Amino acid sequence: MAEQLLNFTGKVVLVTGGATGIGRAVSLAFARQGAKVVIGDIDERSTETVRLIEEAGGTGLFVPTNVSRASEVGNLVKTAVETYGSLDVAFNNAGIFVPPAPLAEHSEEDWDKTIAVDLKGVFLSLKYEIAHMVTAGAGAIINTASIAGVIGDPDMAPYVAAKHGVVGLTKAAAVDYAKAGIRVNALAPGLTDTPMNRVWLDDPAMRDAVLAGPQMGRVAQPEEMVGMVLYLASPLASFVTGGVFVVDGGQTTR
Ligand SMILES: NC(=O)c1ccc[n+]([C@@H]2O[C@H](COP(=O)([O-])OP(=O)(O)OC[C@H]3O[C@@H](n4cnc5c(N)ncnc54)[C@H](O)[C@@H]3O)[C@@H](O)[C@H]2O)c1
Repeated sequence: MAEQLLNFTGKVVLVTGGATGIGRAVSLAFARQGAKVVIGDIDERSTETVRLIEEAGGTGLFVPTNVSRASEVGNLVKTAVETYGSLDVAFNNAGIFVPPAPLAEHSEEDWDKTIAVDLKGVFLSLKYEIAHMVTAGAGAIINTASIAGVIGDPDMAPYVAAKHGVVGLTKAAAVDYAKAGIRVNALAPGLTDTPMNRVWLDDPAMRDAVLAGPQMGRVAQPEEMVGMVLYLASPLASFVTGGVFVVDGGQTTR
């Protein structure tokens, strides 16, 4: 039964930040489960994700999109609906991370850049996706927050603020649209081996400090985020909305 409920054949799934990392792994997984996947990203490596999707027998489309620009996000949703006829699921996952520093050493530019992509980008994505889903009367949305959205990770003030904001937006959207048949949840990944984390993982001293975080003593692979996202997008999660789902190898348990 679970296998059938995790089948997305005929569904249209929008993924922001699908060029690399978690977004690529999730895009491939949805495609393997039968979905048509539309990727919005600023990075041309999205074409490689589409190629991998097609190689696996799936259908994918890259729509160059900067999630901090309203017109581009509007165009992304419009293109998905016009190309494939609907928008059933959205994974709002695009994000950036500025070099770590204590709060007072972060520049105004660090703040503006982080908020523009990590928080405003999720707001704009929700806004345009929901406008379509309300008309359709159904939809499932998963926003990528972070463990930095539930705890005050050190040296990451703009990111921590943005990701706490994503948790807030998730709850607000879930409340506003629960009766419209739209479920909105957040994934809160712990440390995951993606290009974003190179700043930590490529530096031997930092790597040791970072690996002390997760109780499992290792970082996650991007594929280890897939199960939670597919579950939240599926009818298995039909009574789940407004939740924040931590996948962190136990890091935030103490
Ligand atoms: N890697 C981790 O340890 C970790 C932990 C917690 C949360 N996250 C979150 O997971 C999400 C995915 O990150 P990742 O780790 O896979 O890193 P990543 O760098 O591989 O992926 C981020 C993606 O977002 C895209 N992107 C960046 N700015 C964009 C913009 N303005 N418009 C559209 N796309 C844009 C990038 O091109 C890239 O494809 C992010 O929201 C990140 O904050 C990551």
